[in-house]
Amino acid sequence: MPYRLTVLGTGYLGATHAACMAELGFEVLGLDVDPDKIARLQRGESPIWEPGLETLLRKHVGSGRLRFTTSYEEAAAFGDVHFVCVGTPQKQGEFAADVSFLDQVVDSLAPHLDRGCLVVGKSTVPVGTAQRLAARLRELAGDHVELAWNPEFLREGFAVDDTLHPDRIVLGVTSPKAEMILREVYAPLGDVPIVVTDFPTAELVKSAANAFLATKISFINAMAEVCEATQADVKLLSKALSYDERIGGRFLNPGLGFGGGCLPKDIRAFMARADELGADQALSFLREVDAINMRRRARMVDLARDMVGGSFRNRVVGVLGAAFKPNSDDIRDSPALDVAVKIGQEGGAVTVYDPVALDNARKTQPTLGYAQSALDACRDADVVLLLTEWQEFVDLSPHALGEVVAVRNIVDGRNALDAPTWREAGWIYRALGRPQ
Ligand code: UDX
Repeated sequence: MPYRLTVLGTGYLGATHAACMAELGFEVLGLDVDPDKIARLQRGESPIWEPGLETLLRKHVGSGRLRFTTSYEEAAAFGDVHFVCVGTPQKQGEFAADVSFLDQVVDSLAPHLDRGCLVVGKSTVPVGTAQRLAARLRELAGDHVELAWNPEFLREGFAVDDTLHPDRIVLGVTSPKAEMILREVYAPLGDVPIVVTDFPTAELVKSAANAFLATKISFINAMAEVCEATQADVKLLSKALSYDERIGGRFLNPGLGFGGGCLPKDIRAFMARADELGADQALSFLREVDAINMRRRARMVDLARDMVGGSFRNRVVGVLGAAFKPNSDDIRDSPALDVAVKIGQEGGAVTVYDPVALDNARKTQPTLGYAQSALDACRDADVVLLLTEWQEFVDLSPHALGEVVAVRNIVDGRNALDAPTWREAGWIYRALGRPQ
């Protein structure tokens, strides 16, 4: 392979990108400022629960194609192409994104760059960030170093697959040379549509994609609210809509709404940036998208409270799911955990089970109860709440679960269960946006 790659920041995005680039045949050096994380990665251990990731890490740490470091000097000496994959979290008490980790990477790397190379931003950023970073990079490193912007669209739970089989590649570049280098780097992926753009368009593609997906989810959840007011069934409504090819069925699953480390903070950061640019009116609909999404969580708590007689005091609540979605241990802005916490605050005795996110949940919400199995979480429960649609929960036997609970009450927060099966087994089954 002609280029040696570094990946700066080894979180969800960086660890996956580094392992996948090694899988494509490159020599890769991953860097993080967290020495514990680097020590784990050096042993081929994944810092996150992500299907297929640890297998790739082990394989390429073993083959020597993938190494890790905490030294920017080493990264600068090693790499021809440097991928920047650090997080851009929501600022404390504000909607805007905190891009300080990106600045830190540029400021730490640039002084060591003494030969021609390409720095490639992959993080999700407010539009305008790339141009600012490019100027800073030139100032610190000189004209032989160039920046490109190459947003990442991977989904957690499918991160490896999405990286190795992306549906499109967006290259924000300012020179034919940068475009050529990135085309070569991604050539092993085969025939993937590539869209070449300027910096601001590349940055905006990512914000727009997340805004669209969030809007689609909130659209069907708004329909769920209307269904609730009329005893209509949002699941059937969604199914009927999905046959219209212009609408499509993906991201049209009604339920507890979106969470995670991306969609919620990205739509807020997008609104904040539009405000700064004087284009706030254009994105004011995203406030509604956010509000609809948050109302689903409140509605879930209301429904559960209703089912236990109007108050959670002295009531036992079994919660199935802590991760923000199945196949992930990520609990950032998790709707499931949010609902569990709210019920706990109202006096409910909450016990949570999740197949992989328990440790993360326990660390951030130590006051909730936790169990090692779905049945244990639901023992003596007055109501069971399904809040993350893990397959394990979809496969639960209503009879087995019925044996351990105090009352056969279930609220399906993800519209994941077959209502007639549960009702036939003697359960009172309620779901968001569906008739009783
Ligand atoms: C998202 C984008 O999909 C991805 O392209 C981007 O790079 C990062 O953000 P991710 O956060 O991994 O990916 O999760 P995603 O699969 O998009 O789901 C987001 C949330 O929406 C989850 O909480 C999920 O449960 C919820 N969701 C999804 C719904 O409530 N209904 C749906 O129909 C789909």
